[in-house]
Amino acid sequence: MTKVNDVVDLETRGNVAVVRVNNPPVNALSRGVRDGLYEAVTKANADGNVQAIVLVCAGKTFIAGADIREFGLPPEGQPLPAVIDAIENSKKPVVAALHGTALGGGLEVALGSHFRVALPNARFGLPEVKLGILPGAGGTQRLPRLIGVSRALELMVSGDQVAAPEALKLGLIDAVLEGDLEAQAVAYAQSVVTEKKPLRKVRDLTDKLAEGTPDFFAKFRKSQGKKNRGFPAPEKIVQCVEAAVSKSFDDGIKFEREAFSALRASPESKAQRYYFFAEREAAKVSDVGDDVTKRPIKKVGVIGAGTMGGGIAMNFLNVGTPVVIIETKQEALDRGVKVIRTNYERTASKGKLTAADVEKRMGLLTPSLQIEQLADCDLVIEAIFENMAIKKEVFGKLDTIVKQGAILASNTSYLDVNEIASATKRPQDVIGLHFFSPANVMKLLEIVRGKDSAKDVVATSMALGKTIAKVPVLVGVCHGFVGNRMLAARRDQAMSLIEEGAMPWDVDRVLEDFGMPMGSFAMGDLAGLDIGWSAETSRGETVLRDKLCELGRRGQKTGAGYYNYDPQTRARSVDPTVEALVKEFAKKSGKPQRQISDQEILERCLYSMVNEGAKILEEGIAQ
Ligand code: 3HC
Repeated sequence: MTKVNDVVDLETRGNVAVVRVNNPPVNALSRGVRDGLYEAVTKANADGNVQAIVLVCAGKTFIAGADIREFGLPPEGQPLPAVIDAIENSKKPVVAALHGTALGGGLEVALGSHFRVALPNARFGLPEVKLGILPGAGGTQRLPRLIGVSRALELMVSGDQVAAPEALKLGLIDAVLEGDLEAQAVAYAQSVVTEKKPLRKVRDLTDKLAEGTPDFFAKFRKSQGKKNRGFPAPEKIVQCVEAAVSKSFDDGIKFEREAFSALRASPESKAQRYYFFAEREAAKVSDVGDDVTKRPIKKVGVIGAGTMGGGIAMNFLNVGTPVVIIETKQEALDRGVKVIRTNYERTASKGKLTAADVEKRMGLLTPSLQIEQLADCDLVIEAIFENMAIKKEVFGKLDTIVKQGAILASNTSYLDVNEIASATKRPQDVIGLHFFSPANVMKLLEIVRGKDSAKDVVATSMALGKTIAKVPVLVGVCHGFVGNRMLAARRDQAMSLIEEGAMPWDVDRVLEDFGMPMGSFAMGDLAGLDIGWSAETSRGETVLRDKLCELGRRGQKTGAGYYNYDPQTRARSVDPTVEALVKEFAKKSGKPQRQISDQEILERCLYSMVNEGAKILEEGIAQ
């Protein structure tokens, strides 16, 4: 074996040269990997004993993409497109042997190879769009040529991954191999040599480009609706695929390069790259190391079968963990179980689950009216309404029922976890697990660490968050924790803006054009305006939201809130009554009325969140 450099080595096995990349943790295409690949492929081509080349990676995955950490730095060493050209122009067949996740630049390296083989559990994707960029090393030109315009476009615009069986059907890979990948890939390369298979360069394929008609692209753009508002990368990807169809390969590559460079320098991409690393930083807890032993979570209890409780339960059923769900009344219990079933059946009707999957998940669910059924659960999550006295009563009861060593969690979105924990004799086992609605969909999970929460309870909760495919973020105790507290700061500004002359739909439009999925008022309607409102204490004379609730306009669920909602499509529209009410309340506020610019709306809404975020950090509520 020859070491090409620190991260790439070259070994000849019979007549096959094996080029091995070893750059933990994910074999990202750092300068060393690019230079090493280029040199190894050149050397193998010059070696008279070599008749084929296998590219393979050590560790848990094939190359997972360009090294995102190098994006801000001046370019050094071999550029990735040059490395891929060297592979594609190799006179000897190159077989890419794929395992783990071949993503971004990693998949582009594979697309430059002449053959692609993979382990059965390998996955493939071009997720660049999630970083605000596009595949910049030929991906937008080669993928449509290999698997067709339509599927290639879907994959690049969504950033979704495909599994090996689908990849084989699509022609993205040539074979699925079992067992020792390197040995199997070497045997595959030898068969290419013996059978004298021609070198297949993806750049030369054209038959699958025909579906890319102008009509096809128009329909595709329409199908995206407003989804990509505020994000320039998806539209640029569409343009690159149009170029793949209408231009020569080399001109298409040029077009892609220019679009890639422009996007890489955009503020959107910088923000999305920052977010990528921030999300991973958030997964680490400074004083809880990997050495902390986690508690086994084999059975979960959920108290409350409402929207929140049901959604929370689904997260665990999805990963095969049995759940006991508790309600106080049979009717509420039946309703909750029915909603869970309906959700799964809806997913199945879209072809994303089989009927057997639905039954398997429902089979893991035990509905009960007896809280004693939670005795042997490893984790119990309370998801009842926000009332401290009732929560304390529930936790006091759990303390006497549930086995020692179990984690007792509250899904509270505002209340003091320390006070809840004080209702038990085991505050070290108590923690907040704050899911966001709909709990089976939203990715964020706030893990609220109380002053006594044990380290292994924190570690278990963080790991559990990952198991159920959430983004777990550790937060401290304060009113609204991090997510809701920052949103409340924005909501207060949004309210001030409408007191000074803006309309709710102006504020929402500006936020949505900026790239938020939903504006502040639309979000209020979605959540329900009556959260925390009661008819007895309603102050409809002075508070606009209370007035809307008094009028029965409680948000989407009642068909009207700040907006009116179409019962079928849920499309929102402006109601002149609300416009008149807003004007009336603005007048009552006594604030001078004026025309407010979009820029001012944006700055006041965003800066208030930034400011609240800074305070949260200062107070040590977030790491
Ligand atoms: N560059 C640099 N570092 C990376 C990286 C990358 N592309 N991908 C992952 N890492 C780092 C992470 O920051 C993390 O570092 P840390 O341990 O110091 O925090 C470590 O690798 C492990 O990552 P995860 O915690 O995410 O590990 P998982 O096992 O959960 O997931 C993964 C692995 C699926 C590969 C996931 O990391 C991922 O999705 N990575 C990004 C893939 C990607 O976006 N590729 C495209 C890059 S852009 C590109 O290729 C441009 C090209 O077209 C020119």
